[in-house]
Amino acid sequence: MGIFSKAFVLLLVLVSLLYMVFSVNGIGANWGTQATHRLPPDVVVRMLRDNGIQKVKLFDADYDTLKALGKSGIEVMVGIPNDMLASLAGSMKAAEKWVSKNVSSHLTTNNVNIRYVAVGNEPFLATYNGSFLRTTYPALQNVQAALIKAGLSNQVKVTCPLNADVYASASGLPSGGDFRADIHDFVLQIVKLLSDNGAPFAVNIYPFISLYSDPNFPIEYAFFDGNSSPVNDGGTNYYNMFDANHDTLVWALQKNGFGNLPIIIGEIGWPTDGDRNANLNYAQRFNQGFMSHTTGGKGTPMRPGPVDAYLFSLIDEDAKSIQPGNFERHWGVFYFNGQPKYSLNLGTTNSGLVPASGVQTLEQKWCIFRPNAKLDDPQVAPTVSYACALGDCTSLGYQTSCGSLDVQGNISYAYNSYYQINNQLDSACKFEGLATVTRSDPSVGSCKFQIQIKPYYGGAAQRLRSIQKTLCSILFLVLFLWTTQ
Ligand SMILES: *[C@@H]1O[C@H](CO)[C@@H](O)[C@H](O)[C@H]1NC(C)=O
Ligand SMILES: *[C@@H]1O[C@H](CO)[C@@H](O)[C@H](O)[C@H]1NC(C)=O
Ligand SMILES: *[C@@H]1O[C@H](CO)[C@@H](O)[C@H](O)[C@H]1NC(C)=O
Repeated sequence: MGIFSKAFVLLLVLVSLLYMVFSVNGIGANWGTQATHRLPPDVVVRMLRDNGIQKVKLFDADYDTLKALGKSGIEVMVGIPNDMLASLAGSMKAAEKWVSKNVSSHLTTNNVNIRYVAVGNEPFLATYNGSFLRTTYPALQNVQAALIKAGLSNQVKVTCPLNADVYASASGLPSGGDFRADIHDFVLQIVKLLSDNGAPFAVNIYPFISLYSDPNFPIEYAFFDGNSSPVNDGGTNYYNMFDANHDTLVWALQKNGFGNLPIIIGEIGWPTDGDRNANLNYAQRFNQGFMSHTTGGKGTPMRPGPVDAYLFSLIDEDAKSIQPGNFERHWGVFYFNGQPKYSLNLGTTNSGLVPASGVQTLEQKWCIFRPNAKLDDPQVAPTVSYACALGDCTSLGYQTSCGSLDVQGNISYAYNSYYQINNQLDSACKFEGLATVTRSDPSVGSCKFQIQIKPYYGGAAQRLRSIQKTLCSILFLVLFLWTTQ
């Protein structure tokens, strides 16, 4: 092997290492874990890498998740859940402990590329009735102080992902944007802290929610195809809600003296089930539209340039609260088992979304309503409610993926969901004698009767990781010997 090809191999290795260290562009993804069966962290990290996703946003600081992200080069935003805000607000010691355990140790011992700490998650959401209004800022202050004390404040930035309704526009136009009067001073306090520390404002923008909560919302305006009639703001035309909403924030920041504060889109996406407007077509259209709209580096009229955004979300989460709506469990670009839902070009691979590999599923069997059971059996209603309460029936209902099942189909769907969530236990397919196990797939059309994945227990994945690590070291050794011979 010639000196040139050896040099070339070394160059390739160097370039890929540099790429891993410095690359910050491209789309990020939210990785939530509120699922009855989570994919093993290693599988998810491999899936992220296979899909060229270089940034993830987490909602907590789960040890196994962070460990799996170690050495991947992937940029990480760790999260502090709202229920921890009060204790972090009340105690500098608690904030120091949090930073030490959940940031410092992962940076130093596990090589996790932590770049941000999200303090709270949409803490000013109306449904929280102001519960976190007074704890968010002091928690942010303490975490920031702890990062400074740990010597990490240049490397790791704080932020506080807020929902887009913390600002509004009296005129309905972006230029009328300001922070909502009732929380104006609370938001401004946060904005000032972020600005003082070179940290970004993180906002979650959801055209789907606008459409869901307002039946008169012009649907075309939610998408990026430019088919809606534009909104004219002093000569600037807005063709989609994202740009207008984003720029309402820019105006709000500018009006309060922070016109240059960087903005991160903490969450953006579209669900695929659980509502008449939540389907594969719309989700594909929205997410692909967003990708095309932002990858050109065009930005919005008020902020030309690249948009820093995290898709919501990576994987479906079947244990999320459905208080906001049945769509809440269907935000993933991937299904719970790591299979892509639709074709989406993230601009990172040649082949669209790459499915998760090495996923272990349960057996090919389902629980259904016994064919000869009576529909008027008094046990039907209570067993179905029981199954839906502990399982997931959010794909049943008007214009959802299983919305056109007949009554038997509905009952079977509910029973099967409960059965799968309980790992196909025989005792989870009884339902007072109304149910039976079948090996023939009851799925019809768009309605998929699930087979769950095998439950994940931390330890097994860790053993696999150490095998991978060994293989990796051997590979590097071979490469080293081969290039230096
Ligand atoms: C670190 O984060 C985890 C997960 O969010 C949390 O349960 C734990 O309490 C945190 N550790 C400290 C010392 O605050
Ligand atoms: C908010 O207030 C409503 C109505 O008063 C109540 O039902 C709900 O439980 C409250 N939520 C929280 C998080 O306190
Ligand atoms: C199936 O269940 C859904 C949700 O409970 C309900 O809205 C629908 O009417 C049911 N369909 C039939 C045919 O019973």
